[in-house]
Amino acid sequence: MSNSVYLIFSIVLISAVSTLPPIFATDHIVGANKGWNPGLNYTLWAKNHTFYVGDFISFRYQKNQYNVFEVNKTGYDNCTIEGAVGNWSSGKDFILLKEAKRYYFICGNGQCFSGMKVSVVVHHLPPPPSSSPMHLSQNSTAAEIPRPGIRALTVSLALIWFGSWGF
Ligand SMILES: *[C@@H]1O[C@H](CO)[C@@H](O)[C@H](O)[C@H]1NC(C)=O
Ligand SMILES: *[C@@H]1O[C@H](CO)[C@@H](O)[C@H](O)[C@H]1NC(C)=O
Ligand SMILES: *[C@@H]1O[C@H](CO)[C@@H](O)[C@H](O)[C@H]1NC(C)=O
Ligand SMILES: *[C@@H]1O[C@H](CO)[C@@H](O)[C@H](O)[C@H]1NC(C)=O
Ligand SMILES: *[C@@H]1O[C@H](CO)[C@@H](O)[C@H](O)[C@H]1NC(C)=O
Ligand SMILES: *[C@@H]1O[C@H](CO)[C@@H](O)[C@H](O)[C@H]1NC(C)=O
Repeated sequence: MSNSVYLIFSIVLISAVSTLPPIFATDHIVGANKGWNPGLNYTLWAKNHTFYVGDFISFRYQKNQYNVFEVNKTGYDNCTIEGAVGNWSSGKDFILLKEAKRYYFICGNGQCFSGMKVSVVVHHLPPPPSSSPMHLSQNSTAAEIPRPGIRALTVSLALIWFGSWGF
């Protein structure tokens, strides 16, 4: 292949890279440092966060004491787990928010009635900001989790091509 083919290929790669989603997803820790426990108001917690597709919501609690069920609105309103979509019980559960929709999570052992229920609205990713390649949720105490790979890989490959052809 000639130099110009490499150059064109590299430019195409870089353009593709710039249209990929942000590198970072946010992990929203339910209840922040208070975790997933009775007697808290998770509606207030959820109001403080903006959730995007690809983010994680994570539940931290004493294993074997509590758990997490993903339910529908009926389950959330009535604290019932019939027809639950999923359940987690590790004590440190990371749940990927895959879709732009409203999610409902409750504790399945009765503590839902003591406030262990949370509902969050997940939004489509915002258009990429011009100044920064990542989205930072405002006032979030949450950790940033790198989205693995392809973008960084493509950038380095492109740089190698440029480098080896003297650009
Ligand atoms: C939690 O706070 C919201 C907003 O102030 C309020 O509407 C709701 O009733 C509270 N929930 C509980 C269980 O206290
Ligand atoms: C919401 O965020 C504000 C500002 O960071 C903080 O003072 C407040 O405690 C937070 N409330 C909840 C319920 O997390
Ligand atoms: C949910 O609870 C309400 C009242 O608590 C009841 O009227 C309603 O039938 C319940 N819904 C289901 C699906 O169980
Ligand atoms: C939630 O799931 C239950 C059990 O599968 C079902 O009976 C109920 O109609 C569903 N409620 C909604 C709002 O979809
Ligand atoms: C929890 O999820 C597993 C599958 O992941 C399912 O087999 C099990 O029935 C669920 N438990 C309850 C109580 O819904
Ligand atoms: C973030 O915090 C600033 C002040 O620290 C406040 O003015 C702003 O309203 C907060 N934004 C959100 C989304 O809570």
